[in-house]
Amino acid sequence: MILSPSLLSADFSRLAEELAALEAAGISWLHLDVMDGAFVPNITFGQPVIKSLRRCSEKLFFDVHLMIEDPARYLASFRDAGADMLVIHAETDRHPQRTLSEIRRLGMKAGLAFNPGTDPAPLRWLAPDLDMVLVMSVNPGFSGQRFIPQSVAKISAARALLDEAGAGHVLIQVDGGACPENTAQLVAAGADVLVSGSAFFNHPPYAACHQRFLSAARTAADSAHLARCTAAAQWQPGRALKK
Ligand code: DX5
Ligand code: ZN
Repeated sequence: MILSPSLLSADFSRLAEELAALEAAGISWLHLDVMDGAFVPNITFGQPVIKSLRRCSEKLFFDVHLMIEDPARYLASFRDAGADMLVIHAETDRHPQRTLSEIRRLGMKAGLAFNPGTDPAPLRWLAPDLDMVLVMSVNPGFSGQRFIPQSVAKISAARALLDEAGAGHVLIQVDGGACPENTAQLVAAGADVLVSGSAFFNHPPYAACHQRFLSAARTAADSAHLARCTAAAQWQPGRALKK
């Protein structure tokens, strides 16, 4: 399992120190929640902040979750800011196949997110254009919300759709209400990457908290899960910028 801490729950007055502390705790991914106040009822940060964070860390893989309307308008600017992966929402884009292939053409990994009320059936057709599927386990907009229990069945359904499409290598990420206590259940259902905001940043020290997530995941990991995580560990941060 890969843990991707959500910056939304970090201390915004000392982000450089937070990134250094994550690296020291053995964290390899950073989840960046971009919100536009239109698709979701909250506004966070955009390309300038991500660009400054990129200068603080060459090691962290920047997993950028775009909760914005019509994300295709901004793909190159997020790449130029330092994004390694862009995850768009199925609900925000009328032409997701085009946008996902454009994300890859720009040198980034491509992900597609589904809100709790959205059917993941389009995965049947979009799987070849994907590196990751994001199953939202809360309605997006805020950290610290309660995990929606039916998300577990949604993860299994997404995993089955990917397998049927011959895309068993595609990662599944789960975002919202993840914690060490539900990690085994999420991994057993088919999750590979867990996003954590409040359950991670509110429970320092970070290295010990990271280990709690990892030990819980280990009890549920099968060989396919381990193979997907090993492959993703090769994804190079900053690759889109170096090109
Ligand atoms: C919610 C965001 C999440 C959030 C997760 O809209 O996409 O990434 O920060 O926070 P927790 O883990 O506290 O639910
Ligand atoms: Zn998120």
